[in-house]
Amino acid sequence: MNMMIIIFRIMKINGSVALVTGANRGLGLAFAKALLERGAKKVYAAARDAESVTLPGVVAIQLDVTDPESVARLAAQVPDLTLLINNAGISKGKGALGANAVELARQEMETNYIGPLAISSAIAPILARNGGGAIVNVLSALSWAVLPTSATYSASKAAAWALTNGLRHELGPQGTQVVGLHVGFVDTDLTAGINAPKSKPEDVVKSALDTVESGGTEVLADDVSKTLKANLSNGVYLRTVG
Ligand SMILES: NC(=O)c1ccc[n+]([C@@H]2O[C@H](COP(=O)([O-])OP(=O)(O)OC[C@H]3O[C@@H](n4cnc5c(N)ncnc54)[C@H](OP(=O)(O)O)[C@@H]3O)[C@@H](O)[C@H]2O)c1
Repeated sequence: MNMMIIIFRIMKINGSVALVTGANRGLGLAFAKALLERGAKKVYAAARDAESVTLPGVVAIQLDVTDPESVARLAAQVPDLTLLINNAGISKGKGALGANAVELARQEMETNYIGPLAISSAIAPILARNGGGAIVNVLSALSWAVLPTSATYSASKAAAWALTNGLRHELGPQGTQVVGLHVGFVDTDLTAGINAPKSKPEDVVKSALDTVESGGTEVLADDVSKTLKANLSNGVYLRTVG
């Protein structure tokens, strides 16, 4: 097999121009805060409702990642972008056979997979013009494993994981660093009903931004994601619980 060696300029957060999707709360808000703290020149904080962005110092923009018109408007709003964080996501928390499973799966696919695909595609030429830059896709430990209630969410995150690896091939030649972020439960609204150990959003974001700045391509932000990755070849995803 012929291997192409990809060289990208290491991204420094200081002086970068970043866009975070779903930046009004949860992990996205933690990303926006940390980017400002690390000296990003500008942070575009995107949300479905731009008025729900209350963090001082960011540029709020309206973006519904499932709305093609909203995504089509995006490129003209962020011509100076160097760092894209595809963070917006949903989890319906139902299994593959629950009520409305097909409709809920479509919503998760639209948000967690088609959204990052459409946005990355719209933004790629801007990153190229601005020297390559970087994309971080917020995936999940559940890209690699399935809980009794996560079949459709896991499928959407597995699709987004494959997308991330595909983007790395296609964007490498223009010098864009592509990073996948895996993590187990994080303490945000998304896991409000779950009683289990959770990482702090700030710690997850620190791991992600440290990885970007070190030129890495994969973030394993907690022990759950590290253990799952280490045991993929043992068939950890074949085990069932409940
Ligand atoms: N929390 C966890 O345990 C965990 C673990 C692994 C991965 N993740 C991933 O981390 C990311 C952030 O999740 P979170 O935990 O911060 O969840 P969260 O607190 O529920 O926040 C989700 C964010 O995504 C936004 N969003 C949802 N649908 C959108 C759409 N169609 N267009 C634009 N924005 C949309 C929400 O905006 P609104 O306010 O408008 O709803 C909100 O800002 C997601 O991709 C999630 O899958 C989370």
